[in-house]
Amino acid sequence: MVVGAQATEVDTVVIGSGPGGYVAAIRAAELGQKVTIIEKDKMGGVCLNIGCIPSKALINVGHHYNESKQEEEGQSPFGLSTKGVTLDWAAAQKWKQEKVVNVLTGGVSALMKRHKIDVIKGTAEFVDNQTINVEQTDGHQLLQFNNCIIATGSRPIEIPPFPFGGRILDSTGALGLTEIPKHLLIVGGGVIGSELGGAYRLLGSKITIVEGLDHILNGFDKEMSDIIFKRVKNAGSDIHTSAKAVSAVQTDKDVTLTFEAEGKEQTVTGDYLLIAIGRRPNTDNIGLNNTDIKLGEKGLIEVDDTFKTSVDHIYAIGDIVPGPMLAHKASYQGKIAAGAISGEANAVDMHLAMPAVAYTSTELATVGVTPDDVKGRTDVKISKFPFAANGRALSMDEAEGFIRMITETKEGAVIGAQIAGPGASDLISDFSLAIENGLTAKDLSMTIQPHPTLGEAITDTAELADGMPINI
Ligand code: NAI
Repeated sequence: MVVGAQATEVDTVVIGSGPGGYVAAIRAAELGQKVTIIEKDKMGGVCLNIGCIPSKALINVGHHYNESKQEEEGQSPFGLSTKGVTLDWAAAQKWKQEKVVNVLTGGVSALMKRHKIDVIKGTAEFVDNQTINVEQTDGHQLLQFNNCIIATGSRPIEIPPFPFGGRILDSTGALGLTEIPKHLLIVGGGVIGSELGGAYRLLGSKITIVEGLDHILNGFDKEMSDIIFKRVKNAGSDIHTSAKAVSAVQTDKDVTLTFEAEGKEQTVTGDYLLIAIGRRPNTDNIGLNNTDIKLGEKGLIEVDDTFKTSVDHIYAIGDIVPGPMLAHKASYQGKIAAGAISGEANAVDMHLAMPAVAYTSTELATVGVTPDDVKGRTDVKISKFPFAANGRALSMDEAEGFIRMITETKEGAVIGAQIAGPGASDLISDFSLAIENGLTAKDLSMTIQPHPTLGEAITDTAELADGMPINI
């Protein structure tokens, strides 16, 4: 308990300025609340500064570099050739920071000003159900609030055998490397391991992934993740599945990872080791024990369908509540919570259509139910259309993969879709829209997609589901 200071009264306070917090703050301001947002680090949170956005920037650099290398090595499918490809890594990192990250985070700060949201720089901790203490570099202040939205996000899980530091990296360290590793070791073949590993593979690193489960990219089914598995293996990198990372020893030149796979202990040496074994919610360091907020499993905050916690005027959104740890989930929940505080009655049907994407080379995307979810059901149909039959994909030399759609046989309602292939991250939105709005396969098949586009493969999949295929 912090004593001896006078509390400033505020209306709605938002803790954290990531894609959950800043969106909630703006929506609350739009709905007439006087909002104060507290951020201990940079505006924009993990996603904008050290997560989703900078990783996509580096993946993009990787694709460009890889294409140029193919041209240099006479392997361009388009007959292009280039000589003397070099990569100025410092310039690429500078571009990522100045032209991508800083532009977006500057935009968030500008939006705060525009909505007259007070920004307090400091670390927030609950003193009780009504009061927050903010520790600042030059002291601290107490805020007494009417409403609060907690959006403190998550951080990488760190386990004793692999303390972060030196050549053992978390995702932030991997994004900020000042050199391209010759050999990057990765523990955890989930989204972060596969995306960042993929970026460095395209940039010329050999990668070795050690994954505990029997397939990488656990959020996607094996038919999808196998495309990435084969691609990585064929390019001369290694993936060990059903393997357990045991320990690591680093020197000033390299790091050696010991892991168990196929019943025996093995070692591999590389120049860096990325640990990407999941993230933990930031709920253990914000004074929740001084409040009546109930925590559930894995340190996640229990919320109702408006994201209200067990304390009436305190809401929680994003990585700190159950569900996938995704930026777009946090933003969506932020809008619902801000609305609920303002008296709007728009509770959420929890994640009816919550898409997820892996920005691997061959992107993977999913929304709604999966084949596993509908196993044993006789009232559903699964339809699959290959990109190999799509003109635009062929013209891009990216014809690997497929669109899979799951419909209910009675009316043809779309209830799930998976895409492995070019543009999957953008194409999946059509299916989100379809599921969210109760559209049927017929509705999708009668929606005109321009020609020639990757989107036509959606029409083709819908026609398959509707029993009237044209292109297959
Ligand atoms: P993850 O949960 O996706 O994958 C971690 C993997 O590490 C799992 O497959 C697990 O089996 C494996 N693992 C755990 N301990 C291990 C051990 N000792 N030895 C070997 N393997 C081990 O977690 P990740 O990749 O760290 O990502 C964290 C969160 O960030 C995810 O929830 C994800 O949704 C989110 N994220 C989303 C992105 C996107 O939407 N594109 C991009 C990056 C992250």
